[in-house]
Amino acid sequence: MSKPLTIAIDGHSSTGKSTLAKELAKALGYIYVDSGAMYRAVALYALRNGWVSASAGCQESEINDSLDNVHISFELDGQGINATHLNGERVEEEIRTMEVSNVVSHVAKLVPVRRHLVALQQAMGRNGGVVMDGRDIGTVVFPDAELKIFMTASDQVRAERRQQELAAKGQHWTVAEVLDNLQSRDKADMERADSPLIAAQDARTLDNSDITKAEQFELVLDWVKSLQS
Ligand code: DC
Repeated sequence: MSKPLTIAIDGHSSTGKSTLAKELAKALGYIYVDSGAMYRAVALYALRNGWVSASAGCQESEINDSLDNVHISFELDGQGINATHLNGERVEEEIRTMEVSNVVSHVAKLVPVRRHLVALQQAMGRNGGVVMDGRDIGTVVFPDAELKIFMTASDQVRAERRQQELAAKGQHWTVAEVLDNLQSRDKADMERADSPLIAAQDARTLDNSDITKAEQFELVLDWVKSLQS
């Protein structure tokens, strides 16, 4: 049997990281962990408690002090979706709304939040055989991952794809609004002091502006095979 790898997928917002990560995990029989869902779940918890807003930022100490009360889990549902749960409640859909997207960067820059979630992520991937996507997986969570991929695509392509995804779920925003959210999240991710979004030195860059999902998948599977042989 080939050695189970740790695969770290980082990159800009809405580049299809989770789609690729899920497909890979399925094909390889690996665990898939969506680290962004964990930041979104903490953001939702803060939003519900009135501790964060897009315009005013967040009440840091309330959020930091509540981390032990925030239990995040992933549970497979009847449709094969590994759904995010917050304190036992399914929040898979709610964490992906624009309301949460608009505040998540405020929460993701808090050092105690990052320390807490990174420890959970490291425990989930302890035995290898894992595909994890996020912003700091190849740099902070698994700096020794055998395969690191840094995904990107043009701003316009990303905004159009995301706008269509949201519309398919009944959430109607203009491409310009979605573009604004993507650009401001990327800026916050790249400029934060702790664990900024940056390609690991040994990451392979994957720009999928002009390639299909199938082409991308084949390319990455070739990378995996070359590491397993
Ligand atoms: O992957 P996503 O768009 O669902 O992530 C939501 C937000 O969480 C994103 O704007 C940045 C943040 N994030 C992070 O800071 N570190 C990670 N490892 C994953 C996500």
